[in-house]
Amino acid sequence: MRHKAKHTGPVITMLWNTALDVRTRVAVGAGARHKLSGTLAQLSAGKRVLVLCQASTAVHWLRDVLENLPSEDFKVTTLEVPDGEACKTTDWLLRTWEHLQERGFDRHDTVIALGGGSVSDLAGFAASTYLRGLNLVIVPTTLLAQVDAAIGGKTAINLPAGKNLAGTYFFPKAVIADQEMLSTMPRKQIIGAIGEILKYALIEETVAKNSDYEMGPTPLLDVLEKIINDGFDIDDPGISGLITSCIKMKLFIVARDPREANLRRILNLGHTLGHALEKVGEFKLSHGEAVGIGITQTTKLSVQQKRIDKAAAERVKDILFRAELPHELPKGLNKEQLIQAMAQDKKRHGDNIKLVLPQTRLGVVDYEVAFPLADLGKLL
Ligand SMILES: NC(=O)c1ccc[n+]([C@@H]2O[C@H](COP(=O)([O-])OP(=O)(O)OC[C@H]3O[C@@H](n4cnc5c(N)ncnc54)[C@H](O)[C@@H]3O)[C@@H](O)[C@H]2O)c1
Repeated sequence: MRHKAKHTGPVITMLWNTALDVRTRVAVGAGARHKLSGTLAQLSAGKRVLVLCQASTAVHWLRDVLENLPSEDFKVTTLEVPDGEACKTTDWLLRTWEHLQERGFDRHDTVIALGGGSVSDLAGFAASTYLRGLNLVIVPTTLLAQVDAAIGGKTAINLPAGKNLAGTYFFPKAVIADQEMLSTMPRKQIIGAIGEILKYALIEETVAKNSDYEMGPTPLLDVLEKIINDGFDIDDPGISGLITSCIKMKLFIVARDPREANLRRILNLGHTLGHALEKVGEFKLSHGEAVGIGITQTTKLSVQQKRIDKAAAERVKDILFRAELPHELPKGLNKEQLIQAMAQDKKRHGDNIKLVLPQTRLGVVDYEVAFPLADLGKLL
């Protein structure tokens, strides 16, 4: 895979020949949203454009985005879906398909997901299935979506039986990650995403060794630690670099292993326990908070197994503490239920589960540990 990076002021644009033969244009940086119409023109994105968004994002950003889609070039319609996870349903998928059908969308036309991971999961699913695939462009407006959900080509809706149970692999033609759009996010939600960014920092060296990703002069962990020590201000110019590193890392991982046969598993660091904590705690912990706790417990397990030293585990815990994220197992959760939930994880294989464990030093992991299901209690 090749990529070209071009620096135009604060916005970096990249063209990726990504996995599954899709070219993705990625623009990252403050003001990147102003590249929307130019990007659509480069994509031959058709005449019709559907912007899918939620009320709490639309109120801040819809007008701005529509101004970037001139009516002489595009016939734009919008569909407002319910806030948060509530849009990831078969009902809203059907309404989106019907919207596309009623307005005569054809396979050259484009769906734009304007919002967080919930909207991009729904929009991606709808765009991948309607007429077997329209163009998809993602404008992620949450930090979690910018570093994670908008990248990597997974789409999903929830079913009554559980989260993300129906989905497709479908790559967007473009991702436009504009740091300025994060300015309207509630602080707690921004901080939650640090759990995922910490994950990227703790796998960085291994990703560089096993893919075309190249580390910068300063390890991501040091950059993240400094930005947290400075109060994690969303206007901090360093945050755009942080977002770019996470995006590049995920793109390179997914290019090597789009369907999670091997390297992509590395992105599960902290997630086996994280998902169990979300489920058993009835989703009172956000995803990023649960992943953060998952990471501290996994790092402790690495110390027990003499894979890394105690000081490294203390540093991880301290980073979460200073970010004001939970860094210990919450009291009162039923340990048996947590073990059961972890054992049902999709990374299970026979009597073992594939775990990602920090190894040697922070930044390096072993992502192929076959861990006995019977020992899962050691993570608690
Ligand atoms: N496909 C993937 O690879 C992937 C990866 C990670 C997470 N996800 C999914 O992403 C979802 C979580 O995404 P999320 O954390 O981005 O939250 P979200 O999309 O659920 O958004 C949370 C709330 O914030 C609002 N919001 C979004 N941007 C805003 C802004 N700039 N200002 C003010 N409010 C704003 C939204 O309207 C929403 O109500 C989950 O459904 C998860 O399963 C998918």
